[in-house]
Amino acid sequence: MAASDLNFVILAAGKGTRLKSELAKVLHRAGGRTLVEHVVRACKPIAENVLVVVGHQGEEVRKAVVPLGATTVLQRPQNGTGHAMLIARQALGPKAAFAVVLPGDAPLIRTATLQALIDTHRNGRAAATILTAQLDDPSGYGRVVRNPDGSVVAIVEDKATSESEREIHEINSSIYCFTLEKLWPCLAELRPENAHRELYLTDTIAMLKEKGERVLAMEAADPKEVLGCNTRAELAEIDRAFRARKAAELMDAGVTIYLPETALIDVDVEVGKDTVIEPAVQLLGKTRIASGVTIQTGSVILDSDVNENAVIRQHSVIEQSRIGPRTIVGPFTHLREGAELQAGARVGNFVEVKKSVLGEGVKAMHLSYLGDASIGRETNVGAGTITCNYDGAKKNPTRIGERVFIGSDSALVAPITIGDGAYIAAGSTVTENVPADALAIARGRQVNKAGWAAERRKKIADSKSNPTATSASSRKSAKRRKKARKRK
Ligand code: UD1
Ligand code: MG
Repeated sequence: MAASDLNFVILAAGKGTRLKSELAKVLHRAGGRTLVEHVVRACKPIAENVLVVVGHQGEEVRKAVVPLGATTVLQRPQNGTGHAMLIARQALGPKAAFAVVLPGDAPLIRTATLQALIDTHRNGRAAATILTAQLDDPSGYGRVVRNPDGSVVAIVEDKATSESEREIHEINSSIYCFTLEKLWPCLAELRPENAHRELYLTDTIAMLKEKGERVLAMEAADPKEVLGCNTRAELAEIDRAFRARKAAELMDAGVTIYLPETALIDVDVEVGKDTVIEPAVQLLGKTRIASGVTIQTGSVILDSDVNENAVIRQHSVIEQSRIGPRTIVGPFTHLREGAELQAGARVGNFVEVKKSVLGEGVKAMHLSYLGDASIGRETNVGAGTITCNYDGAKKNPTRIGERVFIGSDSALVAPITIGDGAYIAAGSTVTENVPADALAIARGRQVNKAGWAAERRKKIADSKSNPTATSASSRKSAKRRKKARKRK
């Protein structure tokens, strides 16, 4: 069959009642993608024509699959998998010769397995080829009933199985290859005579056999690939399988992962070799980690770039940020959207950075908020420094030059510019620009009152040993203070 004769049809119109969810089943996520996205991606390398039958929350499902190059057709109402294929028929048109049909809720399927199914179908000149699997627990699935000679007789849905059929461990994956001119007449003959009053695509198998057509079954080498996602427990199982597969791939490619069963790495994440991932790390979305990076326990990184030899210390949260080579981040750092750390920068405990560029070698080691700021190379940001970027109406920029020293507990009220090489005295609230190489001190001048503390301690001690006398004397001193205030 030529590639253009071949179509993929993904059935994704169902609600997924058993998930007990407001969200359509195929939009639930496993391994960091929606279920239906996994299925589309498995098909695409083989053929361009991928048709998704949508229905429940059809518009949302359409939005998930159209960017991947799939087309959609609407099934409304949803009268079963056979009915879904009748709807697909209109969209496929009369020229379509072959179709691989897949459920939108079996996301672990691999391209190579689909290719093998197509080859089996083609080489066997079959009307239908079913992908099957041997499952330890086949409950819930349609069973593949075979003759003693091994030839396929029918698929019997779980609810319709006889006692002996229930013992069959070979299940229908709901992934088939059909020769369409053979399938179409059977679809027209389907009747909703079953527990759900639906048209079942599975019934076409027995029909084809009765018509004397060839029906083949190919067993999946890895039964995990065909797992369907009908319940939350199955969703968790499928997600776990994606994580395990991803961790295994990365380890194969030279990444060290300690306790890989605790690593939550989305399928699209890239990690370079000799990177070390400690337990309970999450790498999410489109994150790209270069080689030689260390990511310590409890860190969560989303849609970010982490470059060579960076160290992400414990419990750091990084979102939509760029982390330069040889930087050190954390422990307990929060880098938010648009944070950029250039080579060798260091950001430490309880530092939050948003939409800010920290130049090469910048240090912000403790307890800071840096937002809408640009900070030149080698600048030292003291503990507790805050860029006051929000004036209650809009966000304002803070520009800090190179080699600046910002003393601890400084508040930089934006918009503001601090010139290269300037010093800011600790505890300053800086509201005006600071020229290069200047010292800015913006705080109350210190007054030392000699002996004050000793005198106070003595008074307290006196009041304890002679309460009445002191209460009289303290009344006197209160009067003295009142007079003094009046004089002012
Ligand atoms: C189906 C098969 C079963 C197989 C199992 C494998 C049927 C009747 N049964 O059962 O033999 O073992 O898959 O996972 O086919 N859908 C539509 N339109 C509809 C109904 C369903 O597009 O009107 C879609 C669903 O969104 C889903 C897929 O078809 O993605 C399969 O439907 P589902 O309800 O999950 O069928 P199962 O009970 O799992
Ligand atoms: Mg299912």
